[in-house]
Amino acid sequence: MRKTIIAANWKMHLNTHQASLFLHKLDQKVAAHRDVITVLCPNMLALQSLSLQINHRKFKLGAQNCFWRDEGPFTGEVSATMLHGVVQYVIVGHSERRHGFGETDADVRQKVQAVIRNRMVPIICVGETAGERANGETKDVLHGQVTAALANVTSDEIDQIVIAYEPVWAIGSGQSASPNDALDAISFIRGQIKALYGAAAAEAIHILYGGSVDNHNATGYLGSKGIDGLLVGGASLKANVFSSIVEQAHAKHDKKSVK
Ligand code: PGA
Repeated sequence: MRKTIIAANWKMHLNTHQASLFLHKLDQKVAAHRDVITVLCPNMLALQSLSLQINHRKFKLGAQNCFWRDEGPFTGEVSATMLHGVVQYVIVGHSERRHGFGETDADVRQKVQAVIRNRMVPIICVGETAGERANGETKDVLHGQVTAALANVTSDEIDQIVIAYEPVWAIGSGQSASPNDALDAISFIRGQIKALYGAAAAEAIHILYGGSVDNHNATGYLGSKGIDGLLVGGASLKANVFSSIVEQAHAKHDKKSVK
């Protein structure tokens, strides 16, 4: 049975000092569970110091972005090569990167390759805008984004990938997708993985939901067998709320395994 992944996207919050204090708080509140992988994604600058302080049995570290070339004249960028050894996960193609910084499907594909090449796990974000949803284009958009992101991923590499379904309209809006809608989109993506890589790959891959998740609505997603975890933004900055989501993941996991 797939483990549950609960990933915290701190976005551009918490400087290095604040991130250390917050990590300390989380360490006191979040328990280690063998069935839950808890991934913390602070800003780039905080990663190195957190990697030295973190309880690696309890938490994994992730970057929020990376550049796709390994080195070179790319002022201001941080490569996956540089992240190797510091983080285990890298978020790729978050909607704030796609829509705020003009990141294209081609960029996402190259970044996915860079992360795999450097032996980390990409958390690939896909999702439709409100307009696309209103036009009934959700599945077309998901199909296009998944196809592009995985274009160069081989069948040997597919089990090193995490996908997060994050509808753009749900991110930071307080308007989360219903668990049924999230499951519908995630099942569609899993079907696409099956068509591309076969049934075993579709069964193995982790597909998460993200978008206005908090401690009140988390349980609705976690109770679903097809939803393998959550990517949490705003609510991950509150230690009590985030630790409650991790606990719910563990509790729901127990129930799912006895079904
Ligand atoms: P949110 O962000 O939980 O604040 O909606 C989720 C994300 O951006 O990954």
